[in-house]
Amino acid sequence: MSAEPGQVISGLEGVLACESSITYLDGASDPSVLEYRGYNIHDIAETASFEEIAYLLLEGQRPNAGELEAFDHELRRLRHVPVELTRLLEMIPTYAHPMATLRTAASFLACLDPEQEATGRAANEKKARRMVAQFPTAVAAMARVSQGLDVLRPDPELGHAANYLYMLNGKRPDDASTRALDTALNLYAEHELNASTFAVRVVVGTLSDIASAVVAGIAALKGPLHGGAIDEAMRMIMDVGSVDNIRPWVDRALAEKRLLMGFGHRVYKTGDARAPHLRNMCRALAESSGEPRWYDIATGVEDYVREQKRIPANVDYYAAPVLHYLGFPLNLFTNFVASSRVVGWSAHALEQYDNNRLIRPRTRYVGLREQEYAPAERS
Ligand code: CMC
Repeated sequence: MSAEPGQVISGLEGVLACESSITYLDGASDPSVLEYRGYNIHDIAETASFEEIAYLLLEGQRPNAGELEAFDHELRRLRHVPVELTRLLEMIPTYAHPMATLRTAASFLACLDPEQEATGRAANEKKARRMVAQFPTAVAAMARVSQGLDVLRPDPELGHAANYLYMLNGKRPDDASTRALDTALNLYAEHELNASTFAVRVVVGTLSDIASAVVAGIAALKGPLHGGAIDEAMRMIMDVGSVDNIRPWVDRALAEKRLLMGFGHRVYKTGDARAPHLRNMCRALAESSGEPRWYDIATGVEDYVREQKRIPANVDYYAAPVLHYLGFPLNLFTNFVASSRVVGWSAHALEQYDNNRLIRPRTRYVGLREQEYAPAERS
């Protein structure tokens, strides 16, 4: 879509704001298409490790065995967060929004970096890898502190996803749980020019530092129409409560014209390419946990909403029960998303630095003009 002179494109819908070689997204075709660096999400979501996907997105190509091993090794080395972070988390009041806490933690970690103002590709790549490695440690620490539990040090013997679950739950996870978390991490790692990624590119466009840009991404992700929807999706599934309540609950919500969290998408009009993989993971966890209730309610609501309103489920819808099964506290689901999306934010930041032009759109002014100004005491 191209704007006529003077025309405002509401919500910048359909506007092409930059060129990118990170993600191909076609939400209008049926089925919709999502590719990371040319690889279809259906071929990688449930089989690749998060380390492979993070490397692919950050470096622009698949790692060979040696590159993957070196990258994995570096992430394990960078996982540790300084003890000052735990002290900071303990100082933040429990009523603070968890994404506000993560925003503060990310900013604090960046301030501890003695090379925080170093620029250039190598410095930015190093900062990106550190954030990718440290954010799960910070999120798991937040979960532990909020439950009055001791913060756990990362386990160097475990890969990224398994260690994340270990730091969260205090025990080494089984293979099904690790696979489910790798899949969720892969699916959230990147998603073209969504609101938070756009915020990242706007900050990078001013030649500010990459950590400041990622903090802006966290701030944008917090909103309920973006990353914040995932917590609300789980609250909705819990509020429905039983399979018998699906139809009355959905009928009431639609009659009251309530927004159904975890449904609809600005770009995907034929269905979110990520949702079926999370549905698969949700089913696997429902079986392995012996607690099918959340999966049964989620599938029942999805089917009934599609029948009644033709609105498909988005990525957040099945990710919510997946994270619940994996032990993430309900109010930390959006934080989990940030701990994965930091990869995409970083990839876009690196791309923006490489080909930067200040992002500075205009408004169509609709206010008063040429008013006569009188100082307050004379008016
Ligand atoms: N529940 C009820 N009605 C909906 C929903 C929903 N979740 N989504 C869209 N609609 C309705 C919308 O009200 C509109 O109805 P009408 O034409 O009668 O006014 C119609 O469907 C078309 O919607 P749209 O204009 O194509 O949607 P949009 O592009 O303005 O909004 C959205 C996209 C994601 C903001 C919206 O679908 C929404 O608010 N969904 C719930 C929040 C959510 O799940 N967000 C996560 C998005 S995916 C992950 C992410 O981005 O982080």
